[in-house]
Amino acid sequence: MQRFTMQSWTYLILILCSTVCAKSVCLCCDWIQDHYGTLSGKYHSLLDEMGGNITEQEVPVDFPESLYRLMEDAQYEVQVRFLNETIHEIFKLFDENMDAVTWEEKKLDDFLILLHRQFQNLKSCVSPATKFKRLERFFKTLNKKVLVEMNYSAQAWELIRKETKYVLEKLDLLVATMH
Ligand SMILES: *[C@@H]1O[C@H](CO)[C@@H](O)[C@H](O)[C@H]1NC(C)=O
Ligand SMILES: *[C@@H]1O[C@H](CO)[C@@H](O)[C@H](O)[C@H]1NC(C)=O
Ligand SMILES: *[C@@H]1O[C@H](CO)[C@@H](O)[C@H](O)[C@H]1NC(C)=O
Repeated sequence: MQRFTMQSWTYLILILCSTVCAKSVCLCCDWIQDHYGTLSGKYHSLLDEMGGNITEQEVPVDFPESLYRLMEDAQYEVQVRFLNETIHEIFKLFDENMDAVTWEEKKLDDFLILLHRQFQNLKSCVSPATKFKRLERFFKTLNKKVLVEMNYSAQAWELIRKETKYVLEKLDLLVATMH
């Protein structure tokens, strides 16, 4: 009887722990499932509405599609890190000289606020690990080839807006495959 009780307790504690631990490994799984898309829908609209039509000019830097394809099959935590880092890199771009930009200021601000909220929610989700070098290189090249070489002109920023839209759409597609 005594022995049975001890075993039951051990068993119960094991079950409890595995439930709690599994949850803490992925604190934000539910959050991504339920809220990522809502925020994303809002900042996509703002990105569309803050200026005129998205430019038809081609962006002279290619998004790392091969890295993206790897992410589609990656572990959940790696995917979350990829989302986190991509949004962080977009922020760094929008921190550059925007004097020439003609977009509606309020919508631009709101866009950045919502994107930042998305970043805040992702940031603490999983433990950080090594960076995605290929992704970092892409954003660095984008900065150099578009913003710097085109002298932070309004047209340069239109290209950044176009590429940002594309990249955020890719993240949405990735999130849709995550579970
Ligand atoms: C914007 O795009 C729409 C739909 O493609 C088009 O009808 C409209 O003429 C465009 N506006 C400008 C200013 O190019
Ligand atoms: C998210 O990105 C920020 C900025 O690079 C970093 O400090 C943080 O550790 C990242 N979090 C994860 C989970 O990768
Ligand atoms: C770059 O743009 C700034 C204003 O945004 C201007 O003062 C400067 O002369 C430009 N430089 C070149 C090389 O076009």
